[in-house]
Amino acid sequence: MSALKQGHGQWSSRMGFMLAAVGSAVGLGNIWKFPYMVGQSGGAAFVAVYLICIAMIGLPIIVAEWMIGRRGQKNPINTMADLAAANGRSKGWVMVGVSGTLAGFLILSFYSVIGGWALSYLIDAMSGGFTGMDKDAAGAAFSGMLGDPGSLTIWHTAFMALTAGVVAMGVAGGLERASKILMPALGVLLALMVGYGAASDGFGRALEYLFAPDFSKLTGEVVLAALGHAFFTLSLGMGVMIAYGSYLGEKVDLLRAARTVAIMDTVIALGAGLAIFPIVFANGLDPAAGPGLIFVTLPLVFGKITGGVILAGMFFLLLTFAALTSAISLLEPSVELLQERTPLGRVGATLLASAVIWALGIAALLSFNVWSDVLIFGNNIFDLLDKLTSKFLLPLTALGAVLFVGWCLDRDSVRDELNLSSGGFALWNLVVRFVAPIGVLVVFVSSL
Ligand code: PHE
Ligand code: NA
Repeated sequence: MSALKQGHGQWSSRMGFMLAAVGSAVGLGNIWKFPYMVGQSGGAAFVAVYLICIAMIGLPIIVAEWMIGRRGQKNPINTMADLAAANGRSKGWVMVGVSGTLAGFLILSFYSVIGGWALSYLIDAMSGGFTGMDKDAAGAAFSGMLGDPGSLTIWHTAFMALTAGVVAMGVAGGLERASKILMPALGVLLALMVGYGAASDGFGRALEYLFAPDFSKLTGEVVLAALGHAFFTLSLGMGVMIAYGSYLGEKVDLLRAARTVAIMDTVIALGAGLAIFPIVFANGLDPAAGPGLIFVTLPLVFGKITGGVILAGMFFLLLTFAALTSAISLLEPSVELLQERTPLGRVGATLLASAVIWALGIAALLSFNVWSDVLIFGNNIFDLLDKLTSKFLLPLTALGAVLFVGWCLDRDSVRDELNLSSGGFALWNLVVRFVAPIGVLVVFVSSL
């Protein structure tokens, strides 16, 4: 009886942990960002580098961040401070926690703007707004939304309020239960859409575009974009996985769990690509259209097929939900920090953090309209937030985390924790000490 109880307890906490980790990883990064980054970076060469980055760099860094979190059990900043002290290392390691928390904060500001787009399309979809749309109408609808700061503000505010509401009330239990149904539903719907794409005449070109690399298209810039996106999509480099690692029980097999997260995330991203590019090619759209890509392609299909209103409604609902489970994970580290470092309670901390992030999001959404010519280092505010985080803060934070695990943690305890054979452990050491850090550094330096 007690063995059964214990087993069950572990299973359900592992399940909860996996749902939270997958919920954080799978989000707008997979469905909105991955396809348009592929399009802007010229296709399969980007995809190939991206997949290598996920396997060789992302996967070991997921494990490294969880390992740090499981040992520290606090917000990422305090965790790094404690672990550095316990291992006799410099206080400077605390910067890993600081830059991670900052990155999460900055990312959420523009993530919420895109979450707002998804909400806005959800309402359009349900009211039958896509019916009979052609590509010009779809393009006009999207630019119309971007050009209207008032409605962008409303949707961004609504998305941020949903995120803050969930974080403040701590209804993680209900959210977890919902994820169990909604995440698989998203997978099924995406599979249907890939099936629809497979039947269209754009599918052959889409396959080629995604999987037949032309390596002459690789530049330092493209490789850095692939690396940065690998971190973004796996929720690495911003303290989120460090924070989630603190929920981990002793017995969870980190390598296996990390592999599951990486595979699920990759399957959803590739599925989004296979759903969207056939539409792009069949309709003569520009694959390099940028952040609007899914918002101008999907309405074309949903507007044409029978049951399109319902399917479109479901799709944007699931997209919003996937975005919400990621947004929650982005807000959590800032809230935790405020709670631990100020007299604020959970609700107050959530309100304060969300208000500042919301205001920054307003600056980001104005860069699509009234502030479109406000350029900082040649980028508008939205692009600046995106690039500063994906290309700078995430790689550097993740580099710090993997170096810390590779060089500063006691080897024997790491080996016990991973439960590897001596050969496996030698490979692990090679990867966390050299392959992953050098990979990040080379990409980083070559792009400068
Ligand atoms: N991984 C999420 C996505 O792909 C975004 C995210 C980034 C979430 C960082 C949490 C932390 O959409
Ligand atoms: Na992702």
